[in-house]
This record gives sequence, structure tokens and C-alpha cells, in this order.
Amino acid sequence: MSICEDFFSSNPQPTNYDILSNKIKDFCQLHKHDKVVLITSGGTAVPLERHTVRSLENFSQGTRGSSSAEYFLKSGYAVIFLYRLKSLEPFTRHFSDINIFDWLVVDNENESSQIKVGSQYVSTLLPILKKYKEVMNSGKLLSIPYISLSDYLWLLRAACNALSSLNGKALLYLAAAVSDFYIPLDKMPTHKIQSDNGAPNISLHLVPKILEPLVHSWVPNAYVVSFKLETNTSLLHSKARRALEKYHHKMVIGNILQTRKYQVIIVTENEDYDIVLSEEEKVQNVEIESKIVEYLCKKHDLFLNS
Ligand code: PMT
Repeated sequence: MSICEDFFSSNPQPTNYDILSNKIKDFCQLHKHDKVVLITSGGTAVPLERHTVRSLENFSQGTRGSSSAEYFLKSGYAVIFLYRLKSLEPFTRHFSDINIFDWLVVDNENESSQIKVGSQYVSTLLPILKKYKEVMNSGKLLSIPYISLSDYLWLLRAACNALSSLNGKALLYLAAAVSDFYIPLDKMPTHKIQSDNGAPNISLHLVPKILEPLVHSWVPNAYVVSFKLETNTSLLHSKARRALEKYHHKMVIGNILQTRKYQVIIVTENEDYDIVLSEEEKVQNVEIESKIVEYLCKKHDLFLNS
């Protein structure tokens, strides 16, 4: 058995696995003539105890995934959004730092009272609400939540199975921050780790690199784009190129944690391409994802027409 299969056989499916994987299957069937992108977003959690009090988190706010989802929808894609529960989601992300109660007013306080949005907020809310309703009515967005690394990998594989029938029309945009380390179930304490005996020694094991089976077996004909996150600029380009050479997929988008909102490097077989927001674009609140997605859509179309 491969180390990847070994991971699945020793980590149980998420409890709602059948419901979620059927939703994904139905969505892919419904959109079998469309271009469909699977966007993964947010960070995985690795539990330290079976009854989990503590866990190891990979950093991601979900900005990259959720804003990219909006740009892919705008470009006509159907979107499967596999996201960490409570990380940013398309459309609602624009209001993640507001207190909804501050925006609402009660019309008249009696039996038939109505709740309205304060007039000063309407111009901000309305355009995004309209886009959200339009997308939901079109049935082009399916959001699937995960929390743990294991749930993420099970659902990622289910999505790949469903997408494999779409061949090249399926695009995978793997922006989630996925743990490289975990504690196997048989080595994980059941109950909360106690501090009475001093600091615990926690031994982490390597998670199999899921890109390997994903590219070669799960969706061999899809257009696969992975992300590479580093904090040390001098490592980024070489590690992004190495990932492309190792897994032989279509593109690696490299970013540095500290500058990820303003610059990325794109590495393909034949070219290196930098996207950097100018000072003017930063002032105008241009989102780098608009440029990443524009570039990617062109590349995907070229691939489909080749
Ligand atoms: O959400 P934001 O706050 O906007 O941040 C966005 C981001 C920085 C998280 C995003 O742009 C990003 O870089 N995501 C990838 C993070 C990541 O997991 O990088 P990595 O270098 O650890 O992994 C590289 C690739 O290997 C990833 O595509 C990952 O899906 C894949 N991987 C990782 C672990 C694993 N066990 N198997 C894998 O296949």
C-alpha cells in the first residue's frame, strides 16, 4: 500500500463525508459542460488529542482563496470552494471585520417590526449582495467546509474523483495551507494532555505529499496549480521550480508570507512571471488575485485549445 493510501486507511472519513462528496459529485455532473475550478483555501488543523483541546494550525486567513473564487466566478467558472470552516468566504469576506448589529436598525418596535440596513451602509452592501445572489441563483458556487488535515485530504480526494471526468476543463487551485506534519491516530492521546508531569514531548510524523497522487492518479488530465509558501525570500524561487519539476503539474505560484498580498512569482515549465502591485494599485485597493486569476484563465484557455 502507498504511504498515501496508508494515511487514508488509518484516518477515518469526516462524519458528513457521504453528504459532502455526493454534493460535489452532483455539482460536477450539473457543470459537466463548464470550466470548473476547485479552490482550496484556509489552513488545516492537526489535532494533538483525540478529544481535541489543542491543535497545530497552518496559517491562512483565506483571503487568497476567497477573493480568487470571486474572480473565477466573474470569468465564468463554476467554483467548488473547499475551505477551512470560519476562514474567509467569497462575498461575505468583505464584511469580516464588521459587527452586523451595528449595520442594522429596527424599524418600529412592535409585533410587526422590521429590520433594515442603516441607510449609510446600503451603498457598500448592495453591490456585493447583488453579486452574491446572482451567483447563488446560478448554482455556480459550492462551498464545502473542513477543519482537520484528515478531513481536508478526504474531501480533496472526493473532489478530485468527481472532477476527473471533466478532464482538462477542471482546474485545481490549491491555495490552502496544508500541514506537512501530524500525529498518527494510534500515537495520539485520547484525553487532554496534562501538564502535571512537565512539558510533553510531541513527536510529529510526515504527512505524505498529496500532490504526488493528485497529479498522477486522481486527476491526471486536469490543469493543476499549486502554491508554495515560504518566509525566506532566497528560497522561494528554487523551491517553487523544484516542486514543478518534482510533480510535473502545470504551475506553481510562489509567495512570501509577509508580502503575499502584493507580490507572487509564477513558475511554469517555460517561464517565470512576476506579479507585483504598483504603489498606485495598492492605493486603489487592487487585489492581486484579480491579476493572478486573469493570467491563469488565459493559460487554462491556451491549454484547452492546444
Ligand atoms: O489565505 P491567505 O492569508 O491569503 O494566505 C494565502 C497563502 C499564503 C496560504 C497561499 O497563498 C499559499 O501559499 N498556500 C499554500 C501554502 C502551503 O501549504 O505551502 P507549502 O509550501 O507548505 O506546500 C506546497 C504545496 O504542497 C501546496 O500546494 C500544498 O497543497 C501541497 N501539500 C502540502 C502538504 C502536504 N502534506 N501535501 C501537499 O501536497
